[in-house]
Amino acid sequence: MAIDFKKYIASVQDFPNKGIVFRDITPILQDGDLYRQATHKLAEYAKSRDAEVIVGPEARGFIVGCPVATELGVGFVPARKPHKLPREVESASYDLEYGSNVLEMHKDAIKPGQKVVICDDLMATAGTLHATKELVERLGGEVVGAAFYIELPDLKGREKFPDTDIYSLVQYH
Ligand code: ADE
Repeated sequence: MAIDFKKYIASVQDFPNKGIVFRDITPILQDGDLYRQATHKLAEYAKSRDAEVIVGPEARGFIVGCPVATELGVGFVPARKPHKLPREVESASYDLEYGSNVLEMHKDAIKPGQKVVICDDLMATAGTLHATKELVERLGGEVVGAAFYIELPDLKGREKFPDTDIYSLVQYH
């Protein structure tokens, strides 16, 4: 039977700022069966897109993307916050639902033409997706899809990427 993942996502009013309803995935992560099943759904999606590598933005994209990569037997590439990666990087910055963000990837992290699925916990305004996709493309990769536990469709993130295939387990309006 299909799992209703919403039952296991906690909604926290006014966190981290007034007016934001924070969608907290930690109840999924702390239950081994749920975490495995959420991972499996994203892995099935990434496989259907012929992903050759998974890219996850810091920090929750690591939690979501790493187990997807290991289930598929493909590599994982982190998109990290500034000054964390030790070698030459590409950088991109974008605004978020709250705050803004700079992400970096090692310049040699993606092979030319490699098919990438980006994994993260939540798509809001899609600022993080925008920055991550730009980095992948600057490195010569092809973003064949993006997969999230949660999507907030009212923030119209999906509409900013008409040519990108986007998958989410649950949506909150
Ligand atoms: N990241 C951006 N918006 C968020 C939200 N509403 N809940 C959790 N993470 C977020």
